[in-house]
Amino acid sequence: MTDFTIYNFTSLESTNDTAKNYTDNFSVIVAGEQTKGKGRRGKTWISPKGGLYFSVVITDPDLLNLGIYSLAAALSLCEALPAEANAKIKWPNDILIGGKKVSGILLETATDPSRLIIGIGINISSFPKESLLSYAATSLKNENITITKDELLASLLDRLANNLTLPLQQIITLWQKNAIGIGKDIKVTLAKGTLFGVFKGLDAKGNLILSTKNKEKPDKIISCGEIYF
Ligand code: BTN
Repeated sequence: MTDFTIYNFTSLESTNDTAKNYTDNFSVIVAGEQTKGKGRRGKTWISPKGGLYFSVVITDPDLLNLGIYSLAAALSLCEALPAEANAKIKWPNDILIGGKKVSGILLETATDPSRLIIGIGINISSFPKESLLSYAATSLKNENITITKDELLASLLDRLANNLTLPLQQIITLWQKNAIGIGKDIKVTLAKGTLFGVFKGLDAKGNLILSTKNKEKPDKIISCGEIYF
């Protein structure tokens, strides 16, 4: 197995921020709680004690295919969760159980772009009140999924080390097998504007392919956004 070095902290502002100070490949920063946990699109990731919050440092990432890490991380978590969870990936890298979000992933680069930080947050024993969120959430406990934080972390790192050795096309194929929404009508919110269409799958770089109702128009290729069913 790949050598991960795990650094445990009782409390951090954000494991992603702390991870930016670590230069060795496969350093893993774990915190028992985060006081300034960060979500995608500038949101807060509420991180009380009892959840699993960690960041993996990847040195010399494949800069041409950065999207591969996001897909590989989501796939790895999906595979690491017990089968009875029937976890699914919602593009690009949310993990849902029973249609509710149990985990989110935030990728950031360190000051030099040759270091990538993969930050993963998993609701284990609690989840934020839905009035604080714009989506439905759950926790492993709420879904009666029993796995310890240590077991889940070990299993996830094992799957991640394996998946990062696969060719991009194979990661995309496995990602699509574990994803929800392919073939369905979706709404996509972008930094500027909203699109509607059918989620056809991922292209060779891991971008979302959206076919719009207007058959004359080419498919839209989307690298960043939020999807709704
Ligand atoms: C999302 O918005 O879905 C992404 C959430 C990512 C949260 C994790 S928790 C560990 C790491 N440290 C952070 O501050 N954020 C990520």
